[in-house]
Amino acid sequence: MGAPLRIAAFASGGGSNFQAVAEALRREGSGAEVVLCLSNRAGAGALARAAELGIAGAVVAPEAYDDGARYCAELLDLLETHAANFIILAGYLKQIPSLVVQRYAGRMLNIHPSLLPAFGGRGMYGAHVHRAVLAYGARWSGATVHLVDETYDTGPIVLQEPTPVLPDDTPETLAARVLELEHRLYPEAVRLFAADRIRLEGRCVRILPPSATAISQPA
Ligand code: GRF
Repeated sequence: MGAPLRIAAFASGGGSNFQAVAEALRREGSGAEVVLCLSNRAGAGALARAAELGIAGAVVAPEAYDDGARYCAELLDLLETHAANFIILAGYLKQIPSLVVQRYAGRMLNIHPSLLPAFGGRGMYGAHVHRAVLAYGARWSGATVHLVDETYDTGPIVLQEPTPVLPDDTPETLAARVLELEHRLYPEAVRLFAADRIRLEGRCVRILPPSATAISQPA
């Protein structure tokens, strides 16, 4: 098993997924922890949650840099300062520089509020996703946790869970039901990485069974 996960969470908004992961890891005491919450917005709710949880917060706004390379260097510096060896995107609305994606290949996750590859891609975030699901007349939606590659929402899928679209759903009711799934699914995906149970075969993720040592440990 590798070094314990030291996770940087990138969040632009409320940060409920960041909090769900941070709290689940703390409860379980696996050694994996969220060590940094990074946002592009000083007013992001995620930063307030980080302060409450006693987790370091940082703001890096890409538009404050006239040079993409300097912005990228700042992100990498921060990650290094906090010795972050894993990244979770949790409602992060800015594109991640290629160099960061490459540096954290296989160690960066995103959560998306639909069953990818449906209703993903550029512009598909937040309420836009749920509106599109309802407008299309899809019977099912759900949540997807996937590895991050260099395009939006196309990386290998780690976990997915469906929820039915109900006849009277509004974007808000559907979003709330999907968010509940997300809060369960994201910690579960991180847990699999922390336990070194993920292998990549082409673009497919194989989940290894719990190891013999994990089974024989007392609860
Ligand atoms: C979630 O629906 C997530 O799937 C999407 O952005 C939303 C973030 O919610 N990527 P929160 O900020 O974690 O509450």
